[in-house]
Amino acid sequence: MENFIKNLPKAELHLHIEGTFEPELMFEIAKRNNIDIPYASVYELKKAYAFDCLQDFLDIYYQGAEVLLHERDFFDLTFAYLEKCAEQNVRHAEIMFDPQTHTERGVSFETVITGIHKACVVAEKEFGISTLLIMSYLRHLSEEDAFKTLEESLPFKKWITAVGLDSSEKGNPPSKFKRVFEASVAEGYIPLAHAGEEGDADYVWEALDLLHIVRIDHGNNSLQDESLVREIVKRDLALTVCPMSNLALKVVQDLREHPLKKMMSLGMKVTVNSDDPAYFGGQVNQNFMAIQRALDLSKEDLCELARNSFQYSLLDQKTKNSFLSEVENYCAA
Ligand code: HPA
Ligand code: ZN
Repeated sequence: MENFIKNLPKAELHLHIEGTFEPELMFEIAKRNNIDIPYASVYELKKAYAFDCLQDFLDIYYQGAEVLLHERDFFDLTFAYLEKCAEQNVRHAEIMFDPQTHTERGVSFETVITGIHKACVVAEKEFGISTLLIMSYLRHLSEEDAFKTLEESLPFKKWITAVGLDSSEKGNPPSKFKRVFEASVAEGYIPLAHAGEEGDADYVWEALDLLHIVRIDHGNNSLQDESLVREIVKRDLALTVCPMSNLALKVVQDLREHPLKKMMSLGMKVTVNSDDPAYFGGQVNQNFMAIQRALDLSKEDLCELARNSFQYSLLDQKTKNSFLSEVENYCAA
């Protein structure tokens, strides 16, 4: 199974670039930027990666991002992730970035996106990997702040495909961002959002009905409401599920209790993703392996997950078809 997963062509649709920041690279960039990390070593830092909930993780994740200052830092961060993609046969990646985490600290939007974009261009040439970018609004900040970010993004619109919504979910419902999502769609961005990771099914309803999202990040708590499940199936919305993230943030207590297989049996379109691999202990292939083992998934299940990852990507249908035929060839062999 391990080899089957390793070589399976796949797309990663739920990935925060700031969450790919490996401790070794963090220390290296901190050093060259003359910034002190409040941990003595990579080992001490990794010991702090024990979380009881989403907020515990977010506090450390934002702290880690503070060493990123220059275009080169964002380039190195992104390129390191894309190298890992190439090793895992990730053929296409939809990369979320959190501009406000950086602009709040005085790093310009241009610095952030230029570094990320250039790494994508080089990786595309070197590894033949396809990428696109999702600009995520931080939901713990105000809608006004998100509007400011939307404004700042406009000169770089050609590099951005979609908008997302991440950070602390509870207490920050999708309704808070209704107007900025409308404005983002008017600018041509595709709407996506985290919903139902810690928030209840109502938050998922809001994301569907007020933000009109075309894909749901996480979506676990949709299962609380049967009519919501039916609606998600009817609208053909995929869920970007992140098993190791769910375990690390205690959304599930044990991977054997993970609802991924149940979601599939209910007709929901599921994909497997790493979310924040540097913090949750595994890249996308490790997520596939962990959930395969925990739920005893068959090769056919794995092929369906890989198929979904391309089918529910934001690529045009022709490109999707080309990747889908790679999956078919692999899965038929
Ligand atoms: N949930 C919400 N916000 C995030 C996450 C997540 O899993 N990862 C990075 N920002
Ligand atoms: Zn996420």
